[in-house]
Order: sequence, then structure tokens, then C-alpha cells
Amino acid sequence: MNRNDTVREVAERLSIAEIIGEYVSLKRSGSNFLGLCPFHGEKTPSFNVNPAREIFHCFGCGAGGDIFSFVMKIEGISFPEALRKLAARAGVAIEDRPLTDAEKQLKTERDQQRAIMLLTAQHYRETLTRQPEGAVARSYLQEREVDPETAAAYGLGYAPERRDTLIQLLRAKGLPLEQAEQLGIIRRGDRGWYDLLHHRLIFPIRDKQGQPIGFAGRVLDNSLPKYINSPESPLYRKSSVLFGVDLALRDIRQSGTAIIVEGYFDHLALYRAGIRNALATCGTALTDGHISLLKKHAQRVCLLFDGDNAGRKATVRAMELCLEQALPVYVINLPQGEDPDSLLQKHGVEAFNQRVAAAKPAFEQFLHWLLAKTPADSIDQRVRLMDEIIPRFQRIKDPVERDLYQKEICRLLGVDLQAFRRRLAGQRDQQQPVAQRQTATKPVTQTIARDSTQETMLGLLAAYPEARLEIRTLDLQQLFDQQHLPLAQAILAAGEGEHDGPLWPEVLARLEQEQQKELVARLLIQDQHLAGIDWRAALRQCLKRQKQGETRGLKQIALRLATLPEDSEEYQELLKTADQLRNQKSAL
Ligand code: UTP
Ligand code: MN
Repeated sequence: MNRNDTVREVAERLSIAEIIGEYVSLKRSGSNFLGLCPFHGEKTPSFNVNPAREIFHCFGCGAGGDIFSFVMKIEGISFPEALRKLAARAGVAIEDRPLTDAEKQLKTERDQQRAIMLLTAQHYRETLTRQPEGAVARSYLQEREVDPETAAAYGLGYAPERRDTLIQLLRAKGLPLEQAEQLGIIRRGDRGWYDLLHHRLIFPIRDKQGQPIGFAGRVLDNSLPKYINSPESPLYRKSSVLFGVDLALRDIRQSGTAIIVEGYFDHLALYRAGIRNALATCGTALTDGHISLLKKHAQRVCLLFDGDNAGRKATVRAMELCLEQALPVYVINLPQGEDPDSLLQKHGVEAFNQRVAAAKPAFEQFLHWLLAKTPADSIDQRVRLMDEIIPRFQRIKDPVERDLYQKEICRLLGVDLQAFRRRLAGQRDQQQPVAQRQTATKPVTQTIARDSTQETMLGLLAAYPEARLEIRTLDLQQLFDQQHLPLAQAILAAGEGEHDGPLWPEVLARLEQEQQKELVARLLIQDQHLAGIDWRAALRQCLKRQKQGETRGLKQIALRLATLPEDSEEYQELLKTADQLRNQKSAL
């Protein structure tokens, strides 16, 4: 079987309602099942599953797709992983191409490395819990009021004073020391091998499945360095790993919020207090990779960094990354000199929750910090403030937010909106390479050019076999815009099912982007209004409306252009859109 056949076979053998039903409680509602969406927090159900078409769609957050998309999204795994998982459920054998020799060697190495990490974690854990030499670490934990259950949840351990216990253990088990060296947990010096960590409390760093991939060791007193972290390795990519992910994913998905803290002990303090939707950075700054990971599971991020200067700096940097990826970001404020651990210890979980509830949008917080440091009371200062603000402001992707903040900034600084925009345009020209500026105009083009005609035509394609035959004879490239064309092509290329139009699992399998799958799922759930209509008349109307829409679009743009200053961002963007529309028209 080739991959498409396998995908179809797996989808056919499984019931989407049953699989999703394991994560979400579903009730029948007409031809659909209805439940509370697992991908965003909601109190009234807007999450639909259509068993006949084997798709799901949430009207609340727009998530949607097929059984594979669902498992990918909820488990945070890749398509091949989801396929493997579901194939196992369906009892479909996945034909794996035999591995090449190089791949075989790599696989053996990875398996060995995983085994080494697991053994090492067990060794540290056992030393902490059972060995006499672990007593120092046990009393340290007691002092810091870490109860045994919490310690067990994290798999906390202790690396003994002698620097060869791990070496000896690996030798005894016949595991290659070179592999352990690659993982950074042992080293080779002039006098032979030695353990990286010794006489330290051990935090295992674990992946989503809870497998140890690295270690952090904290001293038991005030000596320095406070922590030693195992380095990057084939198993441990710091730019995409967040501490506590195995303990937090479920709660993050349920609440929609991920709280980000800086320290291992902060994470532990939150967990102990029953706050389970937190993740910690592992001694490195947040990266784009972390934000991408967060975006898969969270609707919003709350930054909870120390209330000192370094904490503020880290907050602003993290805010920039979130804004850039359009992930809503908030800041939980701590009193100067406190960290989450100390706040919880001193004032309890109530006080803490109040601060969480009072979290401010990060950009607003940033403006307040900035103005507290540099009051906008002279021209000089205002210019300096604008120069601090504009590079961050430019990262805000959401147009509504941009608009609101633009006004807020002008109000706070006491500058005129036009002046702000001019400065913005000036800085943008200096900073952004041309290629980026062109992609920045895309959203505007899309919103202006988008109309429901495209979706109606897709709906007709989906619902009427005759419409499929008719549309097949037309020029698809001309009929559909870039966003909808791949969907139309996928529908037409898929095989026909017995009663319900195209074979939907196959259509979805042909689409590469999750966004496209979401759109198909939405159309399929929403297409009742297309049932039993005169499809031929509807199609004709669509074609007509499309032609009119283009000229109307141009007229509107011309009107808007007349009201805007020529050097404004919007003016330039609209000009480009108009050009594109004109070109499309002359091609028709
Ligand atoms: P903190 O010094 O705040 O540590 O550093 P902490 O985890 O809150 O520990 P306690 O409560 O003081 O015992 C925050 C994070 O910075 C990284 C670690 O990830 C730590 O959790 N860090 C700090 C290091 O990697 N190395 C260091 O030497 C210090
Ligand atoms: Mn701390």
C-alpha cells in the first residue's frame, strides 16, 4: 500500500466520533456530535464532529480537520506519528521502507542514548530516595518544603559527591561511555572519565512523553554556580524544550493559558500550589522554537518572570517573540525582589491568583515600564520613547490591536497620530528588507479580495456531483484565488464516495496546510444552506458576483486612497492591492 492508501484505510476503519470521544465528551446533535472544544476554553459547546464526513470543526476557535489533524493537535505530534498511532489502533500495518545502514546506526545510537538517560535518571532518583548519601539532599528538600509527592512528580534526584558513580553504573550495564559523553552527562579529562554532576540536587528535563533528555543540578548551599545544566545533545535541543512540559500540557490545553516562569524552583512552587499550567525556561532565553511549541497548545501566554531588571528585560524580549507570532501575551507582575516561589511561600496561593487575574497585556505593561523610567515630558524624551516603542510596535501582527495601541501610544506620549505614523513609516523603510515589506501587505490584500463567493463555489463543489462536472470544464486558476485553489483541486482530484460526495478523508489527506484542512472542515459543517438549491443558478451568480466584486473593490480602494496621506503605510499597501486587482481583471 502507498501512503495515501494507508491513510484512507486507517480513516475508514476508525470512527472519528469514537476517537475524539476519548478526549472530549460528545452529545449527538442532528447529524453532528457536539462538545466542549479541547483547543480553547469555553463553557457552551461549539465543537462539532461530523461522523459521516469524518471531520471536526470548532466554531469558537476555528480548529478543524480530520482524525489525523485532531490527534496531531491534541497530542502535539507530527503527521507520521499520528498516522502510526492511529494505524496501530486500526490494526493497519504500516509498510516501513527498510532502513539504510546509516539510518540503522543512527537509530541504534538514539535508542542507546534514551536508555542511558533513563538509567541515569533512575540512578539519581534512587540515590535521593534510598541511599544513605542522599540524606543531605532529602533534608535540603525538607528545608525548602518540597514534599515527597511533588519530588516524585518531577523525578527529583541527587548526584552523589563521588564523581564516578555514573561511570561505574554505565560500565556495569555495558553501555558505551562515548554515547553518554555525547549526551554531556559524563566527560573525559586528563585522568580519565568523570561525571558532569556531583553533589547536586537533580532536576531531570523531560520531553512531552516524560522521557528524560537532560539534567540540571542545583547546589545544596549558596556556592556557585547555582545550577549546572547538561548541554545540548542529539536528544536535548534547548531552543525547543521547556521544563515541565510533561506535567503541564493537559492543563495548558484545558485552560488555554500557559504561564511561563524562569526557574525550576518556580515551576515546582506553582505545581505544589496546584497551578499546573506552567512551563519554565531552562536557563536560556525564550526562542522562536519555544513560541511555536506554545502556539500548538495554548491560546495565550502569561509571562511570570522575576520582579527585577533582568526579569523585565527577559519579559520584553519574550513579548517581542510572541507579538511576532501573533500569540496573545500577558504579564503577571511581581513585587520588586520577589520570585513566584517566594511570593507563594510568603503570601499564599490566593494572593498569587489575584496577580494572575490582574495580568496585563504585555505591550501595555511594556509601555508603563518605559514611561515610568523615561517620562514623556520633553520633546527629546518623546522622540527617544518613540524610538524605543516603534520597533516593538511593528511586531504586533493583529490589525485591531495595532490600531488600538497606536492611539494609546499617542495619548501617552502626547504626540499626534500623523506624526507617529510618519515616524513609523520612516523607521520601517530603514529597517525592513524589501522582501519582508512585500509579504507584510498580504493580509490587507486578502481581506479586501476575500468574499463568500469563493466559499460558496467550494460548497457547490462539495455538495453537487453535477457542479463538479461543470466546474471541471472551467479554468480553475481563474475561478479560485490562491487561498481556495488548492482546496478546489483537492476536491476534484479525490475519488467519489458512495453517497456523500467526494471521499473526504482523501481530500483532507491531499491538503498540506492545517489552515486548508480547517477551512474544508468549516465548509462541510456549515453547508446546510446549500442543500437542495438550484446549483446551476447559484454557480452562475457566483461567477457574476466575482466579476462585480473586483471592480467594486477597486472603487472602494480609490475612495480610501483619497483620504490617506501618501507616505502612510496603508496608502502604500492599498496601492499595491489595486495594482494586483487591475492585473487580475485584465487577465480575465
Ligand atoms: P534562579 O537563580 O532564580 O534559580 O534562576 P531558581 O530555580 O529559582 O532556584 P532557587 O529558588 O533560587 O533555588 C532561574 C533559572 O535560571 C537558570 C535555571 O534554569 C534556574 O532555574 N540558572 C540559574 C542556570 O541555568 N544557572 C545558574 O547558575 C543559575
Ligand atoms: Mn528564582
